[in-house]
Amino acid sequence: MCGIVGYVGEREAQPVLINCLKRLEYRGYDSCGIALLGGSTEVYKDAVRIEALEKSLRPNDSQTGIGHTRWATHGKPSEANAHPHTDCTGKIAVVHNGVVENFLQLREQLTNEGHVFRSETDTEVIPHLIEKYYEGDLEQAVSRALVDITGSYAFIAIRADCREVVASRKDSPLIVGIGDKEYLIASDVPAVLDYTDRVVYLEDGDTVVITSASIKITRNGEQVTRAEDRIPWSVDEAQKAGYDHFMLKEIHEQPKVIRNTFAGHISALEPEIDLDMRKDIDFDNILILACGTSYHAALVGKHVIQRLTQIPVAVDIASEFNYSDTVLGNTLVIIITQSGETADCMRALKKAKELGCHTLVITNVVGSSATRIADEVLYIKAGPEISVAATKSFVAQLIMLYLLALSRASADVRSRGSLIAELRQLPNKVHEILDREVEIAEHGRYLARYESAFFVARGINFPIALEGALKVKEIAYIHAEGYPAGELKHGPFALLTPDTPVIAIVAKDNTYETLLANIKEIKARESPVIAIAEEGDDEIEKYVDFVIRVPRVDPIFSPVTATVALHLLAYYTAKERGCSIDTPRNLAKSVTVE
Ligand code: M6R
Repeated sequence: MCGIVGYVGEREAQPVLINCLKRLEYRGYDSCGIALLGGSTEVYKDAVRIEALEKSLRPNDSQTGIGHTRWATHGKPSEANAHPHTDCTGKIAVVHNGVVENFLQLREQLTNEGHVFRSETDTEVIPHLIEKYYEGDLEQAVSRALVDITGSYAFIAIRADCREVVASRKDSPLIVGIGDKEYLIASDVPAVLDYTDRVVYLEDGDTVVITSASIKITRNGEQVTRAEDRIPWSVDEAQKAGYDHFMLKEIHEQPKVIRNTFAGHISALEPEIDLDMRKDIDFDNILILACGTSYHAALVGKHVIQRLTQIPVAVDIASEFNYSDTVLGNTLVIIITQSGETADCMRALKKAKELGCHTLVITNVVGSSATRIADEVLYIKAGPEISVAATKSFVAQLIMLYLLALSRASADVRSRGSLIAELRQLPNKVHEILDREVEIAEHGRYLARYESAFFVARGINFPIALEGALKVKEIAYIHAEGYPAGELKHGPFALLTPDTPVIAIVAKDNTYETLLANIKEIKARESPVIAIAEEGDDEIEKYVDFVIRVPRVDPIFSPVTATVALHLLAYYTAKERGCSIDTPRNLAKSVTVE
């Protein structure tokens, strides 16, 4: 949700900033811009994409600068609203991620004091406030400006004739990459991967000042030290590696991701799971909170945990929980968030803690904001996920939820050993689906001709119907709805026509017979039906138009195999429709505003 970057060092800042912005583009791509420090502050902006901005740049040997790639909140995507924003003198430039909540009041006040605004953004108040308080020390001016601002922010400021970069964060992520005689500040780790694997994660309330030779972090005016960490990802992991899109690469990485996620947690000799979690935490029930695709993982988790442990599990969308009067007792609250930065999840996490619950975060990003607040953290090992559409992280979340449930499954659950053995086989099963890519692509091209579709399933696969529909909406721009198969007849049947395909996820579990009956009802309304069904299920052929085959697994793992098929289906549907697959319109990877 907006990517920001700052650089100071011995290289030319311009190519470094452009490269970092390309790495941050998944956070927003409505517009972009950079500002370079010289005798004055030179600002370049583009209302569209980074490639266009790059082409418009004049040579500039400045070694200090800032950059921004925007996901619009206040003000439409336009050159005027693109960051960096400057003060009246044009000397101070600021890039910002977050929302200045009191910007209208500040803008009015600053306008009355003679400041002239050129954009509709909330951000523009920041350079004007810094200008107002500047008395020869940029850091001090930033500190005084911070007192006036309410809301969430990670921003970076520079001023012509000060060869330093000043940044601050509150409720928006910010990291410092430490290089050799150079420092980078960025919203996220992938931005700095090309330059360093040494990083400092800033805490809420931190202000940092970097020069090419020094870093100083302060909090409430006091200097503080923050530990340096190593980034666990390699540069190669953040490259397309010959694939047309990151999404396809990330789908293909799933066998490895599944293995990496369970590695180290499953004992080689015993059918035991060790998640290295606190054993002394007592709870009566579980509440799982998440957004988007991670919410779908939570819904699968509810089925799995309840089935294997008999612990009652509730699931809520994080943004809904935040405004609800949910009554929590002796509850373990689990937050699932790939990025660890989603604002709705962060707020939910804080609320759960305030309510006295023990909190566990399942995330992909080491050092992310959620990991700093939660009582316990479980890392999925998906590696950097660059495509806005979550794929491999979703499957890794499912694996972590299986591990969690299996680790708590009562010892007398006789099937535990065989489930663990089957879990180990999942990477091979996923390979088998990837081997059918050409065939699934054909179905994607078929689906691409429709403007509306339903995804249906029952039981543990209902969340996968939601996930299949979300992916098709998100990247192929087809209106799609995920429904429990039994619910269609309670209203949505009115929409079934030969132009409304239905994708049915058919697992060989206790829902099978009823789902077949539902499919027959759908066919009677002449909708084309594509089934995702396991090998050996010959019965299904009689009732549907097409079958996408997935390998046979214990039904508890059927969400994994169905998901891989559906993600490929969505990818090829979007490809056929010529969509911007990795950077779908209006979206951003990490949603750090509520
Ligand atoms: O980083 P998070 O898991 O908290 O993100 C949650 C959603 O924003 C995310 O899953 C979103 O729905 C994906 N773009 C879906 O593909």
